[in-house]
Amino acid sequence: MVISMLGDLNGKTVADIGAGSGYFAFRLTPKAEKVIGIDIDPGFISFLDSMKVRLPESYRNRFESRLAKPDDPMLGPGEADAVIIVNTYAYIDNRTQYLKTLYKGIASRGRLLIVDFKKNDIPVGPPDHFRITLNDVRRELVSAGFKVVQVDLESLDYQYIIIAEKE
Ligand SMILES: C[S@@+](CC[C@H](N)C(=O)[O-])C[C@H]1O[C@@H](n2cnc3c(N)ncnc32)[C@H](O)[C@@H]1O
Repeated sequence: MVISMLGDLNGKTVADIGAGSGYFAFRLTPKAEKVIGIDIDPGFISFLDSMKVRLPESYRNRFESRLAKPDDPMLGPGEADAVIIVNTYAYIDNRTQYLKTLYKGIASRGRLLIVDFKKNDIPVGPPDHFRITLNDVRRELVSAGFKVVQVDLESLDYQYIIIAEKE
């Protein structure tokens, strides 16, 4: 359901920031032209590379892992048509500045989808200091120049989904 919210990915480059073990990245790979699994942890980059070789040959080469920096996702100018950040946004420091850097790496009209944990007394997920409210995410997106196009608090019990667009 989350992936379908990105729309048709045919011919598109998708970046998964905080890809971790690749739950989303490897589900995106059959659908997109290219998927960049981005993480700051070299251990996860090695893990992603070890999983890549197990992908079907027909789309294995669409996946690329990328070691990034905590303050820079290391995308080239306009490189990604769509970006997802799942259960990772709250771990990023100086988020508005990070989003401004990320903005440059997204193509015109490209989409950014963020999923993160709701804050109030949800029994699942990280401790409270690693949770950020939907309103704070929205404010930071707007400060960085994005236009918020969709907000979904209902589809997932424990997380919200917010989609923004580069104008
Ligand atoms: C809780 S995991 C989420 C993994 C995956 N997105 C998922 O939902 O299964 C958070 C991941 O974000 C990565 N991470 C933390 N800070 C980051 C940053 N500034 N840039 C990129 N990745 C980051 C961590 O190394 C970790 O792999």
